[in-house]
Amino acid sequence: MAVTASTLDAHRLRADFPIFEHEINGKSLAYLDSAVTSQKPRQMLDAMLHFYETSYGNVHRGVYALSERATAAFEGARQKVQALVNAPEAREVIFTRNATEGLNLVAYAWGLSNLGPGDLAVVTELEHHSNYVPWQYVAKRTGAGFRAIPLDENGELELGALDEIEREGRVKVVASGLVSNALGTVNPVEKLASWAHERGALIVVDAAQAAPHRAIDVQALGCDFLAFSAHKMCGPSGVGALWGRAELLEAMEPFNLGGHMIRKVQFEETTWGDLPHKFEAGTSPIAEAVGFGAAVDYLNEIGFDAIERHEHELAEYALGRLAELPWVRSYGPAADRRAGIVSFNVEGVHPHDVAQVLDFEGVAIRAGHHCCQPLMRKLGVAATNRASFYVYTIPDEIDRLVDGLHKVKKAFG
Ligand SMILES: Cc1ncc(COP(=O)(O)O)c(C=O)c1O
Repeated sequence: MAVTASTLDAHRLRADFPIFEHEINGKSLAYLDSAVTSQKPRQMLDAMLHFYETSYGNVHRGVYALSERATAAFEGARQKVQALVNAPEAREVIFTRNATEGLNLVAYAWGLSNLGPGDLAVVTELEHHSNYVPWQYVAKRTGAGFRAIPLDENGELELGALDEIEREGRVKVVASGLVSNALGTVNPVEKLASWAHERGALIVVDAAQAAPHRAIDVQALGCDFLAFSAHKMCGPSGVGALWGRAELLEAMEPFNLGGHMIRKVQFEETTWGDLPHKFEAGTSPIAEAVGFGAAVDYLNEIGFDAIERHEHELAEYALGRLAELPWVRSYGPAADRRAGIVSFNVEGVHPHDVAQVLDFEGVAIRAGHHCCQPLMRKLGVAATNRASFYVYTIPDEIDRLVDGLHKVKKAFG
């Protein structure tokens, strides 16, 4: 993806994040686990506090001023998310609990009614469980087939396999992540979208690792649904967004049933409300949505071109530093084909032991299967270590990671 000459001053941005004022294990914090969840800037925290202190009420219910103020803030946040992904209409943006709920919503509300014997749901071997298991489950429930696009040895999708997949049934839906959380691979979603649409299928994009780090345009991507979580992009936990094309969302059955999502309830029959309310049953994550909107403002102010460029530089630097260690094996594509995520293993040392030694040094990285067990199987490992970067990451933290790995090597021989 093209990057402009815009720059980002991570040292200055770090000052926005109160967490870095605290020591971990007596050391300053090197937080290299932003792919699992990001840290929070004061601007977002203040926006939530201000909302709770001045404007809190339930939304779309009261006729009094406070409720109207809360509703305006909540709907304002929806418009910010709409603009973030260049969605044609605000009503196409559904507030969910997280990316996982958005993907489940599509699998249940669209998949259960539209898949059947002879159809195929196609995922990728890179997929996070959140965009894998719902399709596997719904395929089983409906009698549809379930296929995965394989990976090549560089950790990239083998699109040549699509022809063979197509011969095995009617492709009805393709579910793909835009950026892999385990390897950082940037997937060719535009190509997959064209391929799916040429066959009359839909494409569901998991943007959980993309929306925090790069500009997203659902119209340019050509996707039908796209889901992501606020907590990975400087926002609070408990809220995410699903964007879907209006005509698809309108034709779908509801997902959760209850208050707020109805038009009329009678003993004989209940009818559903308009978008987006049909998919927002019960009390919404109100202050969380306001925080989500503030996080979007914060990231827009930095600029997504600058964020992407910064993370690319960090990935390149990290891969170069890891390559200095002959006893470390890195996974995934070259730096120019990936986002700010590096996955690796230290020869002969379990990833959990690696992460624990690093923790003593104040360096937080992830160890595990990263909710990608099919990918781990493909790589022939049970788990990997993963370091992931964000707007506040500085090269010094990567140096501390490498220093820590030397300690791991010394401790475990
Ligand atoms: C690629 C990807 N998809 C989906 C998810 C699920 O996100 P959440 O747990 O916020 O629903 C994650 C979280 O790590 C992810 O990395």
